[in-house]
Amino acid sequence: MEKEIKISFHVIPSYEDLDETEKKLFEAAKAVRENAYANYSNFLVGCALLLDNGEIITGSNQENAAYPSGLCAERTTIYWTSANFPKAQITKMFVIGAPRNMLSSQPIPPCGACRQSILEYEAKQDQPIEIYFASLEGEIFKTKSVRDLLPFSFDSSFL
Ligand code: THU
Repeated sequence: MEKEIKISFHVIPSYEDLDETEKKLFEAAKAVRENAYANYSNFLVGCALLLDNGEIITGSNQENAAYPSGLCAERTTIYWTSANFPKAQITKMFVIGAPRNMLSSQPIPPCGACRQSILEYEAKQDQPIEIYFASLEGEIFKTKSVRDLLPFSFDSSFL
């Protein structure tokens, strides 16, 4: 017997098709991307989270000479948010990634480890997080929840 699980996402044609809040988040993620400490990969990623009180929290990827000690922008940002605002509800996440000094238009999807971490915080707040991911220009991909990107997932229900 074969079973199938689908990954689904919505395609937003360009920045111009975002609403005002989304544009603000896109700009925030793009700006903070410049702060990435990514001297090993030269791949810069910025992340912006919208909290239910309207606040925007941002972060970028942080690398290390001992490569696995580095951390992606999504986890840097979501861990900092939970550490400082443990009761905050995150409603949206924007992720903008591209190589340094390159105008890319290929949307950068959150890596597997980040998907697993985002899933944990969706469970913690009992609300899905809308995830938007993009490059500096071009299409923006959107999902209603990280579950759309990680449908066959491990969570606390198995423990
Ligand atoms: N990176 C992120 O920050 N987020 C992702 O979802 C993909 C990868 C970072 C990690 C590393 O610093 C660099 O991009 C290259 O992998």
